[in-house]
Amino acid sequence: MGPSAVPETSHAGSPTWVAAAVSDDAFTLEQASLARFWTFVGYRSDIPNHGDWFTTTLGSASIFIQREKERIVAFENRCAHRFYPLRTSPRGNGPIVCGFHHWRYDADGRAIGVPKSNDMFGAKPADLCKSLNGLEVATCGDLIFARRPAPERGETLEDFLGDAYALVAALSMPRAKPIRIVQDVAAHWKFLHHISLDDYHLVAVHPSTFGKKGYLKPETVRYVRFGRHSAFFDSADDVCLRDVSAACAQGRFQPATYLIVNIFPNFLISLYRAPDVFGSTHWYASAIRYRAVARDRTLVESRLYPTTFETPQRGVSRTLRPVIDRIMPSIVAIVARRIMREDNAICAGLQSTAHQIDGDQMLGRFERRIGWFEEAYARALEGGPGASDNHDEGR
Ligand code: FES
Ligand SMILES: [Fe+2]
Repeated sequence: MGPSAVPETSHAGSPTWVAAAVSDDAFTLEQASLARFWTFVGYRSDIPNHGDWFTTTLGSASIFIQREKERIVAFENRCAHRFYPLRTSPRGNGPIVCGFHHWRYDADGRAIGVPKSNDMFGAKPADLCKSLNGLEVATCGDLIFARRPAPERGETLEDFLGDAYALVAALSMPRAKPIRIVQDVAAHWKFLHHISLDDYHLVAVHPSTFGKKGYLKPETVRYVRFGRHSAFFDSADDVCLRDVSAACAQGRFQPATYLIVNIFPNFLISLYRAPDVFGSTHWYASAIRYRAVARDRTLVESRLYPTTFETPQRGVSRTLRPVIDRIMPSIVAIVARRIMREDNAICAGLQSTAHQIDGDQMLGRFERRIGWFEEAYARALEGGPGASDNHDEGR
């Protein structure tokens, strides 16, 4: 979507790219369409034991993710009897039993326990053939992705993440307990995702951190487009994402620069250097999900942590590393919170005038990834929630 493109108008009267921020109907349609794509929904390490579960959302639907021995399963969070939510708290452990009439489900979502089944329904549970709505689940490193079943599309999560798969997997692994930050922002999720794809705002919005040294130099900005996704490497050297991922898969990746990988539609993971301590370098990662709650409300769910990438450690720094791993995340979190608050304020501002938007965004050189994202978004929404997606995305 270039600067001179004529915007298409949605049924809500806004240009299609912003309609879901303005109209509740367009937001519902957007969320239903995006739920067909692999979407980051949580962390494997949050459900380490058999029976552990947590609730979250996919599109606009409440879902729960559960560990069943070595398997991770996910279901829409509603009973097959009369649709009561099966999980009514953020996390827990235990079998799937509805609190309304005590129907019980197995790990495949089949109703296997129905109190007084013959008396009430004239059949045994197995003959009632009632099941939960299951979701497809796949993992990459510590990350869990889910999507609504899409039998017509054979795209695995590995296909979906493409050349970034092994890099994302490596980045997702914390070396020490992560710090979690959740911020509730009065803005459509796309404004937040856009600002994470924007390297032009740093001086104006983050003057004391990212923008402290002025504008980025074009010769050290390396953008990579892969599938529906994109990445930015702050590097003077050319970057081959496939090579970076191969190095990660072989455990020989040595971080050298800031990088960020934005995974369509609403997830990102970035790698950055924390302040050096006693001459040793510490590389941290932030994983952020922009979880859509309403057309004008997003939960920004972040996790930040020291990565497992090994950097040479000497003497005192090696000895102090466990201590630094305990203290440094809190220091990094102070800065991260400030940066996010600065971005959030801009996005809330954009939301306040979203209904007045009547054209395309004018995207400069350091904003080109927003255009790539919007192309993928437009294709994802083409034809609505039931559409197949056979388009080849540009590289
Ligand atoms: S609604 Fe779940 S058992 Fe009745
Ligand atoms: Fe920012």
